[in-house]
Amino acid sequence: MPAFICPQCASPLTASPGSAPTCRACGAEIPLHDGIYRLLKPGRLQEIEPFLAQYRRIRGDDGYRQRRAAYYRSLPKVDARDPQAATWRVRQESFRNLGRVLRRFEGRPLRILDLGAGSGWLAARLTEVGHSCVAVDWLDDVEDGLGAIAHYAIRFTCVQADFDDLPIAPGQFHVAIFNASLHYSSDPARTLRRARAMLAPGGILVVMDSPLFASDDAGHRMLDAQQIAFHATCERVIRYGIGYLTESGLRRAARDAGLRLCWIPSRGGFRWAVKRWIAGFLRRVWRAWLRLRHQRFGRRYRRLVLERIDGVSLVVLPDVFNPVLLRSGAFLARSVPSPPLADGSASAVLRALDLGTGSGIGAIFAARRGYHVIGVDINPEAVRCARINVLLNNLEGRVEIRAGDLFTPGAGDQFDLVLFNPPL
Ligand SMILES: C[S@@+](CC[C@H](N)C(=O)[O-])C[C@H]1O[C@@H](n2cnc3c(N)ncnc32)[C@H](O)[C@@H]1O
Repeated sequence: MPAFICPQCASPLTASPGSAPTCRACGAEIPLHDGIYRLLKPGRLQEIEPFLAQYRRIRGDDGYRQRRAAYYRSLPKVDARDPQAATWRVRQESFRNLGRVLRRFEGRPLRILDLGAGSGWLAARLTEVGHSCVAVDWLDDVEDGLGAIAHYAIRFTCVQADFDDLPIAPGQFHVAIFNASLHYSSDPARTLRRARAMLAPGGILVVMDSPLFASDDAGHRMLDAQQIAFHATCERVIRYGIGYLTESGLRRAARDAGLRLCWIPSRGGFRWAVKRWIAGFLRRVWRAWLRLRHQRFGRRYRRLVLERIDGVSLVVLPDVFNPVLLRSGAFLARSVPSPPLADGSASAVLRALDLGTGSGIGAIFAARRGYHVIGVDINPEAVRCARINVLLNNLEGRVEIRAGDLFTPGAGDQFDLVLFNPPL
């Protein structure tokens, strides 16, 4: 049993194994219910309850909240029909990797801290092989929380506490593990610093099975997708913690905490490896295409160029969309229909609006088809460029270029045709 500190006054607690600890300094008595030391700060449980309620629902829907003791006893192995069988295959691999990491302690029994332990399956497995484990989580449910200790044949110390605010005296552990839990921290760097303080000299900190991304952008995309999926379960999604980790963030956090970082990449199963190889191949092809495009088009990009399309000459100023290079402008211009004869007479004036006219290509093609055109752009360079091109093509009697935001410069006018090649 580790040396605890009082969650109320931070003084050391006095306790003997199996009995409720007390604080000599402030008189606090720490409850010990169902084999779990209750060391959350007063009021903390009520504060996190809305998140925990949602977490229970989502984990239940995902098939993690199982009832059978046999399920917990065999984790990380699960039945092939388990709804999370694929996830648990990854967890098995991480567990094997953890075993390799622990070999550096040459088979000595270790004091291990399992932070965000959930059902405590990892603490149970490690206790079975002779280590002395402390599982910390704020969830005490019998299904998927620390209460699952009831399912195991073996005993280890369970502490209901915040892994961000540990009620444990520093320097007591050989290993501290965040097993699929560090991404629930709102400040992983701070959480790692605090966990590091729990280590005895020569101790190691392990972070495994949290979603890890190359960039914040990629992490946010995952959260957006998750948010959409969660909406099916909850009306109001409560997010707790940052939700994902990044390689650079972990590197920084490790440096700040004075830790030497060592990555152990996951190899995964055969299908996973094939998928990863295909993704890597596609990424390399995409990068090569971008490089090629840059080499081919780079000379015409961001500089003044003269383009010619279907007999129309266009000057394209730097920072103006090049309709030939990026094709969609030329495509739209060529698609401008000839004006219908509105009232049967050839003399009716038909009006067109070209939104985001850029170089003016759409406006010019519409004017050549017989429309009277207003071209609008918000970019002053584009307005200048389009005006030059209107003059260059002798269409100043048919095309007027206005500066402004979408429909605003043409407000009050009516048009027979609206063209828009929007920026993507
Ligand atoms: C995805 S589960 C992982 C559980 C377990 N480690 C496993 O691998 O199956 C994340 C766990 O972290 C716990 N957790 C998240 N933030 C926590 C915090 N600040 N303090 C304590 N536990 C926390 C959650 O209650 C949850 O049980």
